[in-house]
Amino acid sequence: MSTTPRIAVIIGSTRDSRFGERPANWIFERAKARGDWEVELLDLQKFDLPLFNEVASNAWAPTQDPAALKWQETIARFDGFIFVTAEYNRSIPGALKNALDQAYVEWNRKPFGIVSYGSVGGTRAAEHLRTIGIELQMVSTRSAVHIGGSDFFAVHPLGEQNKPLSDIEGSIGPSADAMFEDLDWWTRATMAARA
Ligand SMILES: Cc1cc2nc3c(=O)[nH]c(=O)nc-3n(C[C@H](O)[C@H](O)[C@H](O)COP(=O)(O)O)c2cc1C
Repeated sequence: MSTTPRIAVIIGSTRDSRFGERPANWIFERAKARGDWEVELLDLQKFDLPLFNEVASNAWAPTQDPAALKWQETIARFDGFIFVTAEYNRSIPGALKNALDQAYVEWNRKPFGIVSYGSVGGTRAAEHLRTIGIELQMVSTRSAVHIGGSDFFAVHPLGEQNKPLSDIEGSIGPSADAMFEDLDWWTRATMAARA
């Protein structure tokens, strides 16, 4: 069995004109640069999950929908996750909630870190995500990346500057590294415990 943590970066928004791809690519490249994880980028847009329509969570009944089964098989391959989430009306996007609901056992006893963005750094979405994680038997890192305030407006396409993420690296880079350290610890600990 491989001892290299397999980490998935999940893009939590799916709309065509989303900003989410940019922070997702940024954190993906930074996570890969560590060199001690196998990192993949998972784009919910490509999984094209239907709205949840099963008789129960797969904790209780086998899933029927082929796209949901493919999603579960994908999640099962990973030891830890980084959710890149927007804040939609003070919570996570519906697409991300749906994707979380479409699996259960595959999330269990695995950790996650968060990159969130919005006017106040997506912090309210991040807190909701942590509460959802409890029910999925996941563990959240304490550290997270919050792209908010003037950083958010500097890099967001609707802001006047539309700068690259690298321009705010000095501001968000240290919290990314702190989140990575937490995620690495929890990933290795839960990998050992699951084994
Ligand atoms: C339906 C909707 C609700 C939103 N609600 C919030 C909000 O509660 N807080 C916030 O900071 N930004 C909010 N925004 C602005 C988003 O932060 C911004 O549009 C961001 O780019 C959305 O992420 P995405 O581009 O990856 O979809 C909202 C945007 C949408 C489309």
